[in-house]
Amino acid sequence: MKGEQLESVVYASNMGSYEQACKRFQWKDVENHFTWSRTGKVNMAHEAIDRHVYEGRGHKTALLYCDGQREESYTFMQLCMESNRFGNVLRKYHIAKGERVFVFMPRSPELIIALLGILKVGAVVGPLFEAFMETAVKDRLEDSGAVAIVTTPELLGRIPRDELPELKHVFVVGDCSQLAGEVIDFKAEMDQASYEFEPEWLDREDGMIIHYTSGSTGKPKGVYHVQNAMIQHYYTGRVVLDLREGDIFWCTADPGWVTGTSYGIFAPWLNGATNVIRGGRFSPENWYRTIERYQVTVWYSAPTAFRMLMGANEEILDKYDLSSLRHVLSVGEPLNPEVVRWGWKAYGQRIHDTWWMTETGGQLICNYPEMAIKPGSMGKPLPGIEAAILDDEGKVLPPNRMGNLAIRTGWPSMMRKIWNNPAKYDEYFRFSGWYVSGDSAYMDEDGYFWFQGRIDDVINSSGERIGPFEVESKLVEHPAVAEAGVIGKPDPMRGEIIKAFIALREGYEPSEELKEEIYRFVRGGLSAHAAPREIEFKDKLPKTRSGKIMRRVLKAWELELPTGDLSTIED
Ligand code: WTA
Repeated sequence: MKGEQLESVVYASNMGSYEQACKRFQWKDVENHFTWSRTGKVNMAHEAIDRHVYEGRGHKTALLYCDGQREESYTFMQLCMESNRFGNVLRKYHIAKGERVFVFMPRSPELIIALLGILKVGAVVGPLFEAFMETAVKDRLEDSGAVAIVTTPELLGRIPRDELPELKHVFVVGDCSQLAGEVIDFKAEMDQASYEFEPEWLDREDGMIIHYTSGSTGKPKGVYHVQNAMIQHYYTGRVVLDLREGDIFWCTADPGWVTGTSYGIFAPWLNGATNVIRGGRFSPENWYRTIERYQVTVWYSAPTAFRMLMGANEEILDKYDLSSLRHVLSVGEPLNPEVVRWGWKAYGQRIHDTWWMTETGGQLICNYPEMAIKPGSMGKPLPGIEAAILDDEGKVLPPNRMGNLAIRTGWPSMMRKIWNNPAKYDEYFRFSGWYVSGDSAYMDEDGYFWFQGRIDDVINSSGERIGPFEVESKLVEHPAVAEAGVIGKPDPMRGEIIKAFIALREGYEPSEELKEEIYRFVRGGLSAHAAPREIEFKDKLPKTRSGKIMRRVLKAWELELPTGDLSTIED
């Protein structure tokens, strides 16, 4: 049916109904799938990898890796053995249950093996996106009190070890002969380590992973997840990703972000699927080649990527055979109806939107394979999940009223704390019995949820979540910058781009060169995705009487909207 652009086909479901899906499979059916039902104890790396070896699937391909230079494949047995080895290395250095160990490197099989080894010793893994620069790396390692990190020679210089007294061990994947300071050679240690290993057996509520993410105030926060989240990863892998025997699954996200772990590692392997991980840069050709080469059947990506693919030359589509695709999904930002329609025309596939957050650990509102899609809607809550729209007092609103998107507390992968910051954690749960997401949305009369925007100032650029405070803090470190306010400016390709309003210190004059210099300062200090693509100089920034920059006024300036109530503004 590829090529037909029939609205009715896009909307209609061909696989039964939402209600049938709800009945087909429930939380309680998967609760006891895991080791704890027999021994009372569990370990994510065992459930995702080793278990398949014990159950006779050891020779099945677990990982297909490529990045343009390397191309490798690993069976479940090989991943089991290699991560056992790294588990032994970590134990040799006395790294134990509950300690935070980070991985900071580009995608590679070693990243995956390291991450699994960390889980095997019961440590809490902290994945860091490879583009992070020194300040971003330091903030996260310092806050979490990380004791060890696995990195590469290229990234080592961004870890300010003198300023991180708790960081005891630095494992380096790559040539260590020329490196300054004390490092541990990953490969040399692995070569000597035994393949025999007994994982640390944990309780369901023991720590598993910490992902740093952004809010509108303060430094990034450490969202802490526990082993119990695996129920949700396994379950959504089955009902939302629709993983079946023989599937080749590809999630395009980096493990530095939650999508890249929950769905780039855990969900597919808990379900025993073959998992594709692609390193290297995005290009339409690279991506389509990956689908064709590995015969990808289930593909999970993001709206910005789909928009870029939509913008690519039409002929590229004819060059590659994408007919292996059976199920396509999206997450991270609003999925435009045009993209859904284009996906139908280009791939013969409905693109299924899914909604969730770092804090939720797994998908919550989704379009299942069984559901009729309403292009532009995020879908409906998973069976067992209660979602609602609340007003600002915490009262549930009727359909078609916009308000705070909230979820009834208690789903398996709900975050268990914000590291070092109980007050921040409590803010999410300010209405008794509800998790308040920070997104605004409404629900229609059929129970579909429609995203409207963020309630706070969090910026979503290309699906990456950026806190304006982190960017502003970096900006004011530049000698020319007196004050800075940062907002998300709507952008047709990236959803939003970062725009900074800057008041200069005395003695500095606005210029294009200065803009460029400030941009590079943030890019080099924090990360490329956090650097403001647009900068505007102002004599003064709007502030409250207590001195807080009013981002909402900046946003109103930008969008040429009324500035609203200014009664709290300083003179
Ligand atoms: C946004 C990524 C619209 C939302 C898994 C949320 C979405 C934030 C969607 C979380 C969607 C995520 N439609 N917006 N389907 N999915 N978002 O923590 O604002 O990086 O609060 O988690 O992304 O981003 P995070």
